[in-house]
Amino acid sequence: MASTASPMASQLRSSFASSSTKRLAVPKDINIGARFRISPAKRSFIIKAVQIPGEMEAIEEYPMNGGHGIYSYAKNSYRQGQAINAVKELIKEEITEKLDISKFPSSDTFRIVDMGCSAGPNTFFAVQNVLEAVEKKYQCEGRPDHCRLPEFQVFFNDHSSNDFNTLFTSLPPNKNYYVAGVPGSFHVRLFPEASLHIVISSYAIQWISRIPKELVDRSSPAWNKGRTYYAHAGAETIKAYADQFAKDMDSFFHFRAQEVVPGGMVLLTIPGGRWNYQILSNTLYDLLESTIVDLAKKGIISEEKLDSFNVPQYFPSPQEMEAAVKRNGCFSIERIECLHDEKKQANPKEARVFSSHMRAGLEFLLSEHFGHEIMDELFDLFTKKIEECEVFDMGVAFKLLVVLKRK
Ligand SMILES: C[S@@+](CC[C@H](N)C(=O)[O-])C[C@H]1O[C@@H](n2cnc3c(N)ncnc32)[C@H](O)[C@@H]1O
Repeated sequence: MASTASPMASQLRSSFASSSTKRLAVPKDINIGARFRISPAKRSFIIKAVQIPGEMEAIEEYPMNGGHGIYSYAKNSYRQGQAINAVKELIKEEITEKLDISKFPSSDTFRIVDMGCSAGPNTFFAVQNVLEAVEKKYQCEGRPDHCRLPEFQVFFNDHSSNDFNTLFTSLPPNKNYYVAGVPGSFHVRLFPEASLHIVISSYAIQWISRIPKELVDRSSPAWNKGRTYYAHAGAETIKAYADQFAKDMDSFFHFRAQEVVPGGMVLLTIPGGRWNYQILSNTLYDLLESTIVDLAKKGIISEEKLDSFNVPQYFPSPQEMEAAVKRNGCFSIERIECLHDEKKQANPKEARVFSSHMRAGLEFLLSEHFGHEIMDELFDLFTKKIEECEVFDMGVAFKLLVVLKRK
């Protein structure tokens, strides 16, 4: 999946890097007077800007591994698939009970989006679950003028660097909906006013849009020296992560409120928990951190590289999600459910499977920071660490299902 930059790419990269601000095309809903910062691009020259009330910042992209290779997301996303399965019946129940189809004109095409769809196949299952519930709803409750099922249009959204080719070449052959891809961050406006009936998102919004500056600032009490995420970090570091997540949720709900029709629904499945409040040891993220620390001790990566790397994910509590929805004020909370993982302690004999699972999701990020050439060594050592653990925890305390209705 990872590749090295071509000479042309390097030339372009340096010309971008040479000027710190430029004028870009202005996305809808963004204040024209504001200045855009261009971050010297990631491998794929991704430059985005988003307006979060009061400031303008670059959004970072960390795509999952594309294609169908051994470390691809398509082949290593069974855990995310399990989450979709775990909430399937709850989602159907919520749609059947709460979706207000009487508010939708009978001529409307019914529009669904999966935000953070990645490169399949989980997204197709998630969409199918929603479709089955909506169809049933229309069959049982459709008004006389809803004499037939509406036409369905499904949008698959992810960053533009997502492998949409793999996604679209594996679409279910017998699907009964029209398909469109919508590239772009869900932290900006993506759809026309009041055009969506259902938004779903599974295991995506825990990816924060950027690493807070304080985490890599030596002079800040939040500097995350020697660590790669927040589980065992100090209070300031945890707060920096939590604040960034809160900001991201503000932009997410701000734009969804514009896009979703009154009576429409937003259904989010999120890996949840507050690691700092729980004694979870030997999690996959702990083991990954200790792998990276070992590589730094061996001199394979520099201490500076270790200190400047942070995993851009935050696993919120139900209270944090509730507070974000309330701050926005445009959605009613229909349900917030914590589903505890039944199988918290996994069998280290499956080490290779767990390691490939993490590799599918994090290789882009890690290779951008530490270099593609050390990925095999890093993940071999990581696999060994998993094997050596008598027990280890998956690291996520529970799944959160958040069901909202547009007021
Ligand atoms: C772990 S994958 C989950 C994919 C799929 N929903 C599933 O359940 O298998 C997370 C996906 O969210 C996407 N993502 C993260 N932040 C995003 C953002 N701000 N906008 C759009 N997609 C985003 C990532 O690119 C990635 O494809």
